[in-house]
Amino acid sequence: MTVSAPIASRADAGGGTPQALLRLDAVGRRFGDTVAVDGVSLEVPAGEFLTLLGPSGCGKTTTLRMIAGFEHPTSGRVLIGGRDVTALPPQKRDVGMVFQNYALFPHLDVWENVAFGLKSRGERGAGVEAAVTRALGLVELEPYARRKVQALSGGQQQRVALARALAPEPPVLLLDEPLSNLDAALRERTRDELRALLKRLGMTAVFVTHDQEEAFALSDRIAVMDRGRLQQVGSPEALYGAPVNAFVASFLGRANFLPATVDSVDGDRAACTVAAGVTWRARLAADSPRGAGARVRLMARPEALTLAAADEPNALRARVLDRRFAGAATFYRMETEAGPELLVQGGPHTASPGDVAGICLVESAQPVAYAAEP
Ligand SMILES: Nc1ncnc2c1ncn2[C@@H]1O[C@H](COP(=O)(O)OP(=O)(O)OP(=O)(O)O)[C@@H](O)[C@H]1O
Ligand SMILES: [Mg+2]
Repeated sequence: MTVSAPIASRADAGGGTPQALLRLDAVGRRFGDTVAVDGVSLEVPAGEFLTLLGPSGCGKTTTLRMIAGFEHPTSGRVLIGGRDVTALPPQKRDVGMVFQNYALFPHLDVWENVAFGLKSRGERGAGVEAAVTRALGLVELEPYARRKVQALSGGQQQRVALARALAPEPPVLLLDEPLSNLDAALRERTRDELRALLKRLGMTAVFVTHDQEEAFALSDRIAVMDRGRLQQVGSPEALYGAPVNAFVASFLGRANFLPATVDSVDGDRAACTVAAGVTWRARLAADSPRGAGARVRLMARPEALTLAAADEPNALRARVLDRRFAGAATFYRMETEAGPELLVQGGPHTASPGDVAGICLVESAQPVAYAAEP
């Protein structure tokens, strides 16, 4: 496929810093009283793989459909390559879309399905032939070109849907949970191939999923949504390490929360008391109160905590509920005296269910303090 360079460079016209290929400008969508998408602003540079991540019903599909033109925003604008496409129909937008349920035509064979987008744009002849052949080659489906799609496995149908979206070589590819119907092994393999393929072609992609692991594996950046609103946009590392709020923290990986009181503040760092005589240092999130004595919620990842002897200084006493060996590490589910259950990644100190042990903060760890729950 000769997609490559022109796509990546198209949005850079003018030189200098790369201009966003795709831009959402305070885009919103209401359905009656339901606010499905609430003022989402987002810029996606050319060549980026961006994932929209969030729980069911948070507005991911609606956002994607507004980018594609299948849904009209009730507020805001959509820009592609600097052009306002808000009022344009899907076929005039230069985007390809892979629908969650594939939306293939069962009465057509693989070849005709892949050719569909090109033909519906009025293309005919050798150009279509070449584009379909290339797209089928990319997803390794040439031998199946004349099969009816009903006679394909779920994974093969997924590849047909992908080839159909790729064939017209759209500068922007939209993918709505395209891997959700694959079994775990195929899903992982397709995921890796998909990323490699899009990177090789220099395509810009917006990928929708509610699966955090998938988002981590695929994305240059992740945009986390909740109840129609964008919560945070950033690299997987940034989102995992510095989530802006408790929702993002708990949606991306395991998060332990424990109530604490601010002792003293130094810039955006604070010493927080988590139990009598136990003080841990944390970074204050933007929404955290800053005064001494303020109640906060401390968030620590399992690997930020470790086990120690019960009488270790500055350790939180807790009882081992269970222990789970996970190959590279062992995880302990711990019940603290104050109540909250914590998941702790074990270190050199070991313990058995029923034992009382200490939980320490790993030296390099950076817990985050958020506003206490109302
Ligand atoms: N055509 C419609 N009419 C009325 N409400 C709708 C319509 N489409 C979506 N909604 C509502 O808008 C909200 C967002 O829906 P959307 O399909 O965008 O969520 P999603 O994040 O894709 O969820 P999922 O992960 O379950 O696919 C939901 O509350 C949904 O019920
Ligand atoms: Mg959806």
